[in-house]
Amino acid sequence: STVTDGYAITIITSRVVNRRDQPTEIEFHVKIPKNAFISQFKMSIEGQMYDGVVKAKEEAQQQYSEAMSRGQSAGLVSSVGRSLEEFTTSVTVAAHQKVTFELTHEELLKRRLGQYELQIYARPMQPVNDFKIDVSIYEQPDIVFSVVKGGLNHPNLATIGALDVHFHPTVEQQTLCGACGDDGLNGDLVIVYDVFRDDTLGHLKESDGFFVHHFAPTGLARISKNVIFVIDQSGSMHGRKMRQTRAALVHILADLATDDYFGLITFNHAVHPWKRELVQANEHNVGIAKEFARTIEDSGLTDINSALLEGAKMLNQNPRDGSASILILLTDGDPTTGETNPVKIQKNVMRAINKKFPLYCLGFGHDVNFEFLEKMSLENSGVARRIYDDADADLQLKGFYAEVATPLLTNVMLIYEGGANLTQTNFSHYYNGSEIVVAGQITDNNIETFSPRVVAISVRVTVMTASMSESNTRRLWAYLTVKQLLDKELQLDGEEKERAKQEVLELSLKYRFVTPHTSMVVTKPPGENAQVLHKPKEGEKHPSPQGGSFGIVQSSADYDGKLYFNTCALFIVLKGNLTHLH
Ligand SMILES: *[C@@H]1O[C@H](CO)[C@@H](O)[C@H](O)[C@H]1NC(C)=O
Ligand SMILES: *[C@@H]1O[C@H](CO)[C@@H](O)[C@H](O)[C@H]1NC(C)=O
Repeated sequence: STVTDGYAITIITSRVVNRRDQPTEIEFHVKIPKNAFISQFKMSIEGQMYDGVVKAKEEAQQQYSEAMSRGQSAGLVSSVGRSLEEFTTSVTVAAHQKVTFELTHEELLKRRLGQYELQIYARPMQPVNDFKIDVSIYEQPDIVFSVVKGGLNHPNLATIGALDVHFHPTVEQQTLCGACGDDGLNGDLVIVYDVFRDDTLGHLKESDGFFVHHFAPTGLARISKNVIFVIDQSGSMHGRKMRQTRAALVHILADLATDDYFGLITFNHAVHPWKRELVQANEHNVGIAKEFARTIEDSGLTDINSALLEGAKMLNQNPRDGSASILILLTDGDPTTGETNPVKIQKNVMRAINKKFPLYCLGFGHDVNFEFLEKMSLENSGVARRIYDDADADLQLKGFYAEVATPLLTNVMLIYEGGANLTQTNFSHYYNGSEIVVAGQITDNNIETFSPRVVAISVRVTVMTASMSESNTRRLWAYLTVKQLLDKELQLDGEEKERAKQEVLELSLKYRFVTPHTSMVVTKPPGENAQVLHKPKEGEKHPSPQGGSFGIVQSSADYDGKLYFNTCALFIVLKGNLTHLH
């Protein structure tokens, strides 16, 4: 894996030999980060290279259907888990022959809670002779800290410009470590790091007529918030979900700053505001709010429309100059009473919020219409997040809150004179620990006339200046543009939706990304069928079978084991100095 300016390109290679005396089907089965796009897949068999080709989905689908109708088996589907999705394929290899699989995926790492996380999952299905994970991270400005999860940490990692992690366990070590047994390694290596920040405009890199701007100033004062929690207490929240929600709320309330104002609204078929007004988060108010939170019980149906309109009304009626307003919805189901038409709810909510503050939607469990929540959040400059119905749901809720707990800027507008084809440039809030990334093209590749500026509201006026350096930014720009166009497409209708889709398609084909609108067709040796690789949707667990046999599909949703390399050797190379860690 090579990470440059937060853009991770990972190549997974697997070399397998068929030791049997007859042809044998050999499987290649990997998990990749959910946010990544696959950009290449190759198989090399007996000196022959079979290269995957990215095509428009319909075209790929047709090829696939033809193979199916000829009665040949085809198909290759992935499923989505918490942070990983799966890729499976197999190929028949002649006796004593070898096959090499090579899969490339790309992803822009997202800074959350002050850090980037690179996750590499390894499960070779057996101890293997030659196992390696090699990671190189190139960041400018310098990396200020990094942690390799699995209990490995080293104080010497501070302020190192280029970070390398090498993990080369022996066959024996592959069976001895915490999470692995006779079947070898099974777990992930997570590298967490951050780069040096200051309170300037941030860092601009350019290459090849493209630029990328990482904007994450520190040293700004926090802005106090007006936050309203709209909490689903319908019958479906019964049991553990309700308990976890209460626990998370009590914790979050205790975490509010004294100059924050807050409101609590619970809802089922009726809307129950705790107080009619926002109240200050002083000791007294937080105390009685916690008491209230501890008594929330589940019953009844789900009127999301009325609850959100009440929340928006309360925020609109209690404006405070120089503060950041935030509306947070937590629900575990679809609207079942009151206004139940998702499109109408979205319209109502958009009108009520009127771009004045962001709406964050937390979808608890798998019974929610996540696309509905996602669209509603995006339309109101927020994001939707799934809360997995697991033992750690209260931690997930607290974790989400922590990301929006400290607003530093509002109404952020990034302006690039002399720039074109920009990714999103307007953001409602900038939170401590997060990052705004904008990429684009420099008109006529003329750096002289290119001038970036950031305009935003903060507690005190800050002057921001920029510095420019070289980097490889074209693919990063393409990735970010495709991601944001996919979000935009979700919010649009009719012709505009079609236009966004076309743009995604063009860029995906040009840059070879497997996205929801493209597929990769994998050709195989004569006698075997082409396979089609799709990008699965959030929450999609099962393939939509059209007959025929499919690759093995397993859900990784339940996976929460981490690999602890306590008996294995991990080497961390710091600028050529080899440090051996136990
Ligand atoms: C932002 O986060 C950093 C590190 O996590 C912390 O040192 C700083 O105090 C935070 N800023 C505010 C205003 O809370
Ligand atoms: C960004 O916000 C400004 C000010 O509200 C507005 O004039 C501008 O059109 C917005 N730009 C985009 C790309 O939405």
